[in-house]
Amino acid sequence: NGGGKGGRGALIVLEGLDRSGKSSQCARLLSFLQGKGCATEGWRFPDRDTSVGKMISAYLANESQLDDRTIHLLFSANRWEKRSLMESKLLGGTTLVVDRYSYSGVAFSAAKGLDIGWCKAPEVGLLAPDLVIYLDVQPEKAAERGGYGGERYERVEFQKSVAGHYHSLRDSTWKVVDGSLPMETVEEQLRELAMNCISECQDKQLTNLAW
Ligand code: TMP
Ligand code: MG
Repeated sequence: NGGGKGGRGALIVLEGLDRSGKSSQCARLLSFLQGKGCATEGWRFPDRDTSVGKMISAYLANESQLDDRTIHLLFSANRWEKRSLMESKLLGGTTLVVDRYSYSGVAFSAAKGLDIGWCKAPEVGLLAPDLVIYLDVQPEKAAERGGYGGERYERVEFQKSVAGHYHSLRDSTWKVVDGSLPMETVEEQLRELAMNCISECQDKQLTNLAW
């Protein structure tokens, strides 16, 4: 791992609107950390490979309809079904770079009008990230990027509301990075944030989301 002291891995989460550049930056960060010899895996939520994930994927593709609370709980269940594996990876010294997490769960459902407290409740007890990097892009700019509009939530007005809810979730573990900067600049900032986080959390205990 990063410092070679045999400490735990870091739980690093990237958040942001659809088409904010999270997936590309996760891939770049992952190969950078692996190149440094740091045990790292790239994860993402929703994890569409599980049976719950397949239900989520069909919903996002508008191939199925689900009640707002039902889909919220499925997104949460999709994190819960991965919790123990995440924990053992982290305790075994592997850093996880995760594309979306509980903050997506709360921000997107709250943007539909669901009560924030109700949205947070099923997330309590999942692993707390050591670092949340929010890639900040204007909803209008994100909409200009390729592939936009293919899935259910990719509408500018809705994304504006999501952005507002993300804003209200920011806490001390968050770092906001300007996602409209050139890719290489964003990449450089993420590398530094991640390296600092990995070395700082080695001796820190893994905790749960408390909300
Ligand atoms: P993705 O494009 O990163 O695969 O995410 C799919 C969509 O699902 C995206 O619009 C964000 C949304 N989402 C939620 O509504 N709740 C969640 O818990 C997660 C992880 C994603
Ligand atoms: Mg998407």
